[in-house]
Amino acid sequence: MTDKMYPPAADFAANAHADKASYEKMYAESLADPDAFWGEQGKRIDWMKPYTKVKNTSFEPGNIDIRWYEDGTMNVAANCIDRHLAERGDQTAIIWEADSPDTPARHISYKELHDNTCRMANVLKDLGVKKGHRVILYLPMIPEAAYAMLACARLGAVHSIVFAGFSPDALANRINDCDARVVITADEAPRGGRVTALKSNTDAALLHCKDSVKMLVVKHTGGQTTWTQDRDYDYNALAAEVSADCPAEEMNAEDPLFILYTSGSTGKPKGVVHSSGGYLVYAAMTHQYTFDYHDGDVFWCTADVGWVTGHSYIVYGPLANGATTLMFEGVPTYPDASRFWQVCEKHKVNQFYTAPTAIRALMAYGEDFVTKCDLSDIKVLGTVGEPINPEAWNWYNDVVGKGTKPIVDTWWQTETGGHLMTPLPGATATKPGSCTLPFFGITPVMLDATSGEEITTTEAEGVLCMRDSWPGQMRTVYGDHERFEKTYFSDYKGYYFTGDGARRDSDGYYWITGRVDDVINVSGHRMGTAEVESALVAHAKVAEAAVVGYPHDIKGQGIYAYVTLMNGVDPTDELRKELEKWVRTEIGPIAKPDLIQWAPGLPKTRSGKIMRRILRKIAEDDFGALGDTSTLAEPAVVDDLIANRMNRS
Ligand code: WTA
Repeated sequence: MTDKMYPPAADFAANAHADKASYEKMYAESLADPDAFWGEQGKRIDWMKPYTKVKNTSFEPGNIDIRWYEDGTMNVAANCIDRHLAERGDQTAIIWEADSPDTPARHISYKELHDNTCRMANVLKDLGVKKGHRVILYLPMIPEAAYAMLACARLGAVHSIVFAGFSPDALANRINDCDARVVITADEAPRGGRVTALKSNTDAALLHCKDSVKMLVVKHTGGQTTWTQDRDYDYNALAAEVSADCPAEEMNAEDPLFILYTSGSTGKPKGVVHSSGGYLVYAAMTHQYTFDYHDGDVFWCTADVGWVTGHSYIVYGPLANGATTLMFEGVPTYPDASRFWQVCEKHKVNQFYTAPTAIRALMAYGEDFVTKCDLSDIKVLGTVGEPINPEAWNWYNDVVGKGTKPIVDTWWQTETGGHLMTPLPGATATKPGSCTLPFFGITPVMLDATSGEEITTTEAEGVLCMRDSWPGQMRTVYGDHERFEKTYFSDYKGYYFTGDGARRDSDGYYWITGRVDDVINVSGHRMGTAEVESALVAHAKVAEAAVVGYPHDIKGQGIYAYVTLMNGVDPTDELRKELEKWVRTEIGPIAKPDLIQWAPGLPKTRSGKIMRRILRKIAEDDFGALGDTSTLAEPAVVDDLIANRMNRS
């Protein structure tokens, strides 16, 4: 492991919200007296009725109960819009950049955001939506997605966004699970030059739902759609008729703001429920500190609003802070691999936040696509979603950041609402591949996986849990509090179990080794598949790699590596040997892959997550039971992997 440290630059630290000393002081305060600390932080949003209680949380078996600011009332949309109007009504709230660079960008001011959100809210009201009702959003990355989220928040309705890449079946399951009254969709969603027919997908989904479910359709591409009378409603026509004013409902801090479905290691997706007050405080605070956001900055998170990252860091965190947030409809490689960097140049982006998978994809195209763009406005670079291998970190640092921009590797989960472990750019010396240290109020602990005992030495390796709650924590699994307790609080009693494994180094820095279910055991040694992958992609000829375990007669589990080579590199037996040797020297003989399969591509969900379940099945030579592949971005990849599998019994 490379342990080179990158300390914050002195001039950056001097102007940052937190430097090393203030981080350490505030962190200590946040643990010493959570009520005082979060009582103070709660004031960053506006309350209709101020809270008198701050923290009331229990991780006790049989009584998992999480409440923050429980007697306060407020409204999330009023906090993200109305309270900014006096000072920044004309400031841009949302910059919208379309899929095609030929489509002009749109700048939506806070005043326009207010009017559009109110119109959406009034349309929903006319369709019968009331406080507490559920509304599904199945939308492209267009401003109407933000209006719809905020309109629900304004009415006190609970939104649940379904990523536009999901199939009609997945959509129907979610509509039914939360018993939604209305689905908001659009005619079509363009992405990377191709379109997804959202309206007809929704038509197909509604065949499996109650007849009373209504569909509100936003006109986006103008593509052809069929219409069902008394079920489908034309958003643009209705919005033109309603008032641009709509009062914000007074909500309790603990009223649910949204449900977001996320897949666990097994079973059907869980509806993760987030609160209004605590969630917003936490999203706003992390957005400000992690990215060192200052007034006037242009913030760009490249995620889709269909994922938690888009909820917290495109919409709620930035807008609660009165920021200018950029919303991008497209993909990093369309029309070419320069797209991200051209958008950064065009809109003078100050904070750029993306996923390691995008960085690795862009790396494979070479530096010219980056260096031809002017990225001098960037102040902070961020990553999220998976461990970043040092190779990708270094490329991000050297090529994108020119070695002068702090990188924040943010570790968190759908369940956590916001960052739990991350560097703060003015405070934390970074190490490539480490998410470094906990955010304020966060209490990570390393537990021994078998005994469940807390490991108290600084250097440790085990499962990552949290000892105590934070305001952004999920409150329950929708309709199934028992499943909430069973998934997160039963394996290690008294703790929140993250499902991730981690290592804590001698500086107390955390290194996520991957999901615990992806940990493999080779000859009695535990190994994070991410570690082997990181070694493989550190090789100059490797673009991407995925590693899984498979049954091995002698070692218990063997290591099976799927390797995608850089464009133009020949897959030879010689190279296979070279890679085996490479991993031996990078990590040790124990990590040497037993089998390496050349993979033209890896099976990924449309959000870019590698579907390891499928890779494990193929590695086990058991591909007859691949299970649900409906969420794959490119299903054809799987056929190639099966045809060329290495482990044939
Ligand atoms: C992984 C995304 C290493 C981790 C916000 C976690 C990470 C899961 C990082 C949650 C990171 C996320 N370093 N691993 N910086 N960020 N993960 O719910 O395994 O889509 O448990 O939330 O992604 O994924 P989710």
